[in-house]
Amino acid sequence: MTTPDLFAGLIAKLPDDAERITALRQTLHAHAHRYYVLDEPSVPDAEYDRLFRELQALEARYPELMSPDSPTQRVGGQALEQFAPVRHAVPMLSIRTETDTQASGAENFDARIRRELALTDGDASVVYVAEPKFDGLAMSLRYEHGTLVQAATRGDGETGEDVTQNIRTIGQIPLKLPADAPPVLEVRGEVYMRRDDFETLNERQRQKIAAGIKGEKTFVNPRNAAAGAVRQLDPAIAGQRPLSFFAYGLGEVTPASAGGPEFSSHFDLLQTLKIWGFPVSSLIGRAQGATELVAYYEAIGKQRDALGFDIDGVVYKVDSLALQQRLGFVSREPRWAVAHKFPAQEMLTTVLAIDVQVGRTGKLTPVAKLAPVFVGGVTVTNATLHNEDEARRKDVRVGDTVIVRRAGDVIPEVVSVVLPSIPLASATTTAATPDGEPLPMQPQRGVLFAMPKTCPVCASVALREEGEADYRCTGGLFCSAQRKQAMLHFAQRRAVEVEGLGDKLVDQLVDAGIVHTLPDLYRLGLTALANLDRMADKSALNLLDALQKSKQTTLPRFLFGLGIRHVGEATAKELARHFGKLDAVMDATETQLLEVADVGPIVAKSLRTFFDQPHNREVVEQLRACGVTWPEGEPAARTPTPLSGVTFVLTGTLPTLEREAAKALIEAAGGKVAGSVSKKTSYVVAGAEAGSKLDKALALGVPVLDEAGLLALLQGDPPPPQV
Ligand code: IVH
Repeated sequence: MTTPDLFAGLIAKLPDDAERITALRQTLHAHAHRYYVLDEPSVPDAEYDRLFRELQALEARYPELMSPDSPTQRVGGQALEQFAPVRHAVPMLSIRTETDTQASGAENFDARIRRELALTDGDASVVYVAEPKFDGLAMSLRYEHGTLVQAATRGDGETGEDVTQNIRTIGQIPLKLPADAPPVLEVRGEVYMRRDDFETLNERQRQKIAAGIKGEKTFVNPRNAAAGAVRQLDPAIAGQRPLSFFAYGLGEVTPASAGGPEFSSHFDLLQTLKIWGFPVSSLIGRAQGATELVAYYEAIGKQRDALGFDIDGVVYKVDSLALQQRLGFVSREPRWAVAHKFPAQEMLTTVLAIDVQVGRTGKLTPVAKLAPVFVGGVTVTNATLHNEDEARRKDVRVGDTVIVRRAGDVIPEVVSVVLPSIPLASATTTAATPDGEPLPMQPQRGVLFAMPKTCPVCASVALREEGEADYRCTGGLFCSAQRKQAMLHFAQRRAVEVEGLGDKLVDQLVDAGIVHTLPDLYRLGLTALANLDRMADKSALNLLDALQKSKQTTLPRFLFGLGIRHVGEATAKELARHFGKLDAVMDATETQLLEVADVGPIVAKSLRTFFDQPHNREVVEQLRACGVTWPEGEPAARTPTPLSGVTFVLTGTLPTLEREAAKALIEAAGGKVAGSVSKKTSYVVAGAEAGSKLDKALALGVPVLDEAGLLALLQGDPPPPQV
């Protein structure tokens, strides 16, 4: 299903196209109001686009029904009254969108350009610039004599809002330009929020909500959060919402005749913007002809999930400015550019059920079971609702139509419920359709979600501790769901690594009662395994082989694999380094544990609680008895290493080192890698597309290194000069 039944019902039942046009306009106006003015979208973009295109098609068929106030006649939102209006010296245009997500989307554009330019098959390929289509909001930055004097949103394309105060808080946007910048320069680009910044912001919002702070809400997606921050009336609050910026074009610029710059190509002008201090995405490149456009579309599509920010497609632009001028505009869209969309990251679907899943530490997570929907490039059937408070706050119920979002490697999430009464508020004033049929009634909704009081798997009591958002099953290893998760955790690649022991196999082993505890894995024999469903002798042998191999491990892997709450990989490494031997870790008092770098009171207590439980010690003993072993070292042999006591934060993509590799090198030299920048950070290592962490480093005066600088430091050279 792609649309809520009620919209479909209403729009399809109206007797003729004129009525349909009116209904579409009302619906689109209501959606646009929520999107642009309230910063609270009610349907995914894909749904809005679909209705918009339907209206465009109808208006094209009936030009006499065209009306200047139709949503198709505006470029974007209207200016908010609170911000001063800004009339754009050069209008901020939109681009034609190609929704065909096949290669033909790019081929059609190239063919059209060649036709417009009267090129024949014998002529050379057209040179384009291919860019990501950043999913944020368009911004025009006006500099006079090298100083940022105004930042304005697009608004309706002619008039935007003056949001200078808020934009000044974005560290990536230069406030001053070098002396060779022209006297008047308007830089256009996209203000956006990085995905990690978005997750952090929403986590903070969730905590505020949990703490009972009124008026706080979570944000639907990074774009929405960015829009909210830009149009926040209090610049102090705006400043706490981390935003980023990419430049991709120009508005008004001092003409060459008056001493302004002379550009002949779009690519060159972007390079100059970079030199003047504007962030320009390193993913932007030149492409020749349709073949390279298609290759670009596919290459960026593959990288999409791994990028630090949302993009909803790519943009192709004719590179030569002379050709751009020759091509000109149709209505308010340039002929020389097109946006080629990727599959949408937000879609509508229906909630079939709400299940509760049990995690490794007993955490109960409500999960919406969905009618299958293609979103962000995959078919999604489950989406997390996080916890009871979130599920109730969003008020997700069985049978509801919801917006599902899947972006990056983040697990799919239900962002909000689409209640028919919201988008159709203005259309529901008539209780009947013109032919007298009553409007469809709002469907009866399911009941408000409530967390079960017992574990859905083992029926042990489920408890929510004070100050915690989560309910936990108290069954511990009695609970088969927790046992299964504990085994998968132990067997994962970063822990003890038992190749081939995946969730299907663990389910079977535990459900059939063959394996109860971790050590049982090492007691498996060929007969027990071969009796399992779909388990051929060969795979059984492979598993036994993998188990045998996993017995030779390391202390950090083993400690991490035990799945002690709050003990991640980094902590396990520190513990192993500090104590050298497992027995020393198991017997350490909380005070002794606190001496370990990385261990605070919560971790120390969690370790003590774990090793105070006789059954946990028993598991460890049995694993050792089964032959699981690792080299043990001497305690507290912390050799002074070149980077001991030095804390790094990594941001952006480094030219040659993968993030994990850089981290490993730093740790091997005794340094630490932290997730966020503070005054205590020693260095920020920044690569391409570095985001708000870089801004923060600059704001706090934390030294910034590039990859070469990091490598020099690792070799014991003095810190290189700042980049
Ligand atoms: S160029 C005349 N380039 O897409 C062309 N726009 O409808 C002006 N956008 O809201 C726009 N990434 O904010 C251009 N690399 C890019 C873009 C981009 C995102 C947004 C822009 C506008 C919409 C165009």
